[in-house]
Amino acid sequence: MNATTVPPTLLVTGGAGFIGSNFVHLLAEQRPDARVVNLDALTYAGNLENLRELEGRANHVFVHGDICKSADVARALAACGKGPLQVVHFAAESHVDRSIQSGLPFVETNVVGTQVLLDACRARGVERFVHVSTDEVYGSLGTSGMFTEDTPLAPNSPYSASKAASDFLVRAAVHTHGFPACITRCSNNYGPYQFPEKLIPLMIANAGENKELPVYGDGMNVRDWLYVRDHCEAIQAVLERGRPGEVYNIGGHNEYPNLEIVRLILKLLGKPESLIRFVKDRPGHDRRYAIDASKMERELGWRPRYDFVTALPLTIRWYQSHPEWLQRVRSGAYRDYYAAQYGAR
Ligand code: NAD
Ligand code: TYD
Repeated sequence: MNATTVPPTLLVTGGAGFIGSNFVHLLAEQRPDARVVNLDALTYAGNLENLRELEGRANHVFVHGDICKSADVARALAACGKGPLQVVHFAAESHVDRSIQSGLPFVETNVVGTQVLLDACRARGVERFVHVSTDEVYGSLGTSGMFTEDTPLAPNSPYSASKAASDFLVRAAVHTHGFPACITRCSNNYGPYQFPEKLIPLMIANAGENKELPVYGDGMNVRDWLYVRDHCEAIQAVLERGRPGEVYNIGGHNEYPNLEIVRLILKLLGKPESLIRFVKDRPGHDRRYAIDASKMERELGWRPRYDFVTALPLTIRWYQSHPEWLQRVRSGAYRDYYAAQYGAR
């Protein structure tokens, strides 16, 4: 990374979640001098234990607050000081199954929260705002084809619909106000610190305990899996070199049906396939996602460095070598860590 192009302060929203915490770790590693203000509401998906190694670092400031509340966003912006500021917006409700149970929290955080953040950042003035979105806004593919940045948005779940709405609000801020935002749309991520309600960490955790592995429907739904570090490096590239107003697709060229992934995990763990249980399908389950990330490669020189052959074993090893992290998330004890620092919720 070029030291001269990185600003002294970054506001990261949702930096206690899966991808956000990986991004903050990457910054600490590659830009130890960068000041990071991390605004996170610590919902069930936010886990301060993801950031334990950064505790005590003067240039990592954690602000406990909700992007839906202007006063909380103002507090975070005040903590950023008056100098040049760049923003990476991860905070969101992110789990499709939860959105099927209840869509409202998704509209509140993903739509209302994004608008509150946009308004505050526009009033304050920022150098660059990266809105971290998802390939799910494009809807579902058949057996061929890929999503490009020009694919029309056709979201199918309350989660993806709320993310698409937030993408449109960012687009409107760019178009109407000249706000310097980029939108990234990434495929499914996997890696350290992922909450074990998502496919890969859930399967690793269940297999480790010899519990059943629930596979939805026929297990032939396809996702394009990207190692989280690749995603974080792609976001850095967009932050530094992305053109304002542009959308960038980010993907792994790593398409797998769910069943194959579950079998791979069992094989790597030395567990029997008899643990697999086919269960009732997710309503409205998107069949296939695939990303054409050639714009990232062409314009920003980014391409994924990992695939399943290299990064699935790495991921499994991470969960195996962090049994306490996994156990505390599975039991809910990670919430006590929060309470010890911030008092009752
Ligand atoms: P996550 O659910 O692990 O983390 C979300 C974080 O946002 C948590 O720390 C949570 O406490 C925080 N948060 C939620 N509501 C908030 C609010 N109102 N105010 C402040 N903070 C709040 O999510 P993730 O998987 O890390 O995803 C991060 C972003 O990347 C999301 O915007 C998601 O749509 C996008 N994305 C995720 C994937 C994926 O595979 N996980 C793929 C593409 C894009
Ligand atoms: P998930 O990790 O929830 O990500 P997304 O829905 O955003 O793609 O699910 C990935 C795929 O795995 C998706 O096709 C649904 C499937 N799945 C299962 O088969 N079983 C499970 O227990 C979960 C959580 C997901």
